[in-house]
Amino acid sequence: MTSLPGTSPDPLNLEQELAGLAERCDACRHCGLGSSRTQVVVSRGNPKARLMVIGEGPGAQEDETGLPFVGRSGQLLDRMLESVGIDSNRDAYVCNIVKCRPPDNRKPTVLEMAACRPWLERQIALVDPGVILLAGATAVEGLLGIKGGMTKLRGQWRQGEGGSLEGRWLMPIFHPSYLLRNPSKERGAPKWLTWQDLQDVQRRLAQLESSL
Ligand code: URA
Repeated sequence: MTSLPGTSPDPLNLEQELAGLAERCDACRHCGLGSSRTQVVVSRGNPKARLMVIGEGPGAQEDETGLPFVGRSGQLLDRMLESVGIDSNRDAYVCNIVKCRPPDNRKPTVLEMAACRPWLERQIALVDPGVILLAGATAVEGLLGIKGGMTKLRGQWRQGEGGSLEGRWLMPIFHPSYLLRNPSKERGAPKWLTWQDLQDVQRRLAQLESSL
């Protein structure tokens, strides 16, 4: 970790470091995905934000635009974050477990996730978020190595241990594409639960802010 979670590194260096990282991601051929994608998808949002959102990997629209979470799931994620006062471009840094689109939107393999891991580690170290939102089971597996159903994992705070995760707060949530398939907002439905989780995230961010 470059500093305590939630305290940003020097902004000038940060910009340069992230630009360098994006170039290296673009040139990366650590796995086969680099050869089949249109363009690499590194991040969007604010690298000085205290919140980092990590998803699975780019889909068709992301591959086309070079930006993460801009398709239908991204739009839903944005609306849900907005409902708890979080603007995804102003208050969050958004990225994925893998930076290149897996063909046919398949889940990235364990080897692809491992090949991309150093880039994610570097993003975490540079952005230095206090809170990391893990969108979906692949994000949880890719970052924490935990496989399991999101019904059990979601909404449970974890504290990162070791390496770039040390001391950071991690919150798994349902992936927005799952919420698109389960649109009910009724109490206890996945969308309602995610809204509770995001409110919890907002409270944690406010707490971190007030303890600075
Ligand atoms: N778009 C992304 O960038 N990530 C996902 O996990 C899904 C859609």
